[in-house]
Amino acid sequence: MFVCICHGINEKAIQKAVSEGAKNVREVRKTLNLGSQCGQCVRQAHEVIEQAKASAQKAQFYAA
Ligand code: FES
Repeated sequence: MFVCICHGINEKAIQKAVSEGAKNVREVRKTLNLGSQCGQCVRQAHEVIEQAKASAQKAQFYAA
């Protein structure tokens, strides 16, 4: 699903950025240019980032 229509950024690209260390919208923006045009995607991007971080924490918990 596309999160940022202006730049064609989908959920998977954001999840990948989180897996590579991005912790918030500002850090994702550095690599993907997310939210730099109309800004309508920022709230949805924040939700995707939080979900990706929660999934990563669950994976770490169950791996330990
Ligand atoms: S939808 Fe992301 S900047 Fe416009």
